[in-house]
Amino acid sequence: MKMALGFLTVILIASFAPFAYASDPSPLQDFCVAVNDSIATVFVNGKICKNPKMVVADDFFFSGLNKPGNTSNPLGSKVTAVNVNQIPGLNTLGVSLVRIDYAPYGLNPPHTHPRATEVLVVLEGTLYVGFVTSNPADPNQKNKLFTKYLYPGDVFVFPQGLIHFQFNVGHTNAIAFAGLSSQNPGVITIANAVFGSDPPINQDVLTKAFRVEKNVIDYLQAQFWWNID
Ligand SMILES: *[C@@H]1O[C@H](CO)[C@@H](O)[C@H](O)[C@H]1NC(C)=O
Ligand SMILES: *[C@@H]1O[C@H](CO)[C@@H](O)[C@H](O)[C@H]1NC(C)=O
Repeated sequence: MKMALGFLTVILIASFAPFAYASDPSPLQDFCVAVNDSIATVFVNGKICKNPKMVVADDFFFSGLNKPGNTSNPLGSKVTAVNVNQIPGLNTLGVSLVRIDYAPYGLNPPHTHPRATEVLVVLEGTLYVGFVTSNPADPNQKNKLFTKYLYPGDVFVFPQGLIHFQFNVGHTNAIAFAGLSSQNPGVITIANAVFGSDPPINQDVLTKAFRVEKNVIDYLQAQFWWNID
């Protein structure tokens, strides 16, 4: 009986463990409202907690997501993020939110969130969205692309860390909201990181990686790589 219980416990732990570690760490208290100290030099996994006695309702509050983001930029899209930097009460809670606005043919270009899965819902417009899997174990296979056309009310998931994009294929503005499984998902916009880094990546690296001539890399590195968020 004792052994059977032990075995059961092992099975239970094994089956729950992947969920326990699938996103930001679980909180060990009701909340840990972040202290807004941009010059803090102590690093914790998240931010330092405000004294709970000093916590107020506004620490869990944000207003203004009804307002469209300004899409007058080279990509024609704008991400308005509501994460721990806007709502300090999100600290340690493993969740955040964005509003994304798209002008007609506006693009949220290929990017990844290193710390979060994203679940997106379309409110207005028509989006062509997709993500690409990580490198397959079999070197003869390719990274796989999953795409979908989304209409108002449609929901789509972008798994954590994978490169994904959304493109407004309609003649009208589009609006989407998305939940992300991190208080601070992070964004790596692929083109910006590779061609727009400061200082630039050595051209020998990029000509070889992308199998193009140096003038192509010159051209790409000379672009202004706009960050939409
Ligand atoms: C939107 O952004 C553009 C470019 O930065 C700027 O010229 C324009 O004034 C902004 N519009 C609004 C309504 O803020
Ligand atoms: C945090 O402090 C900075 C600078 O003091 C301020 O601009 C920002 O709005 C503050 N954020 C919050 C959520 O209070």
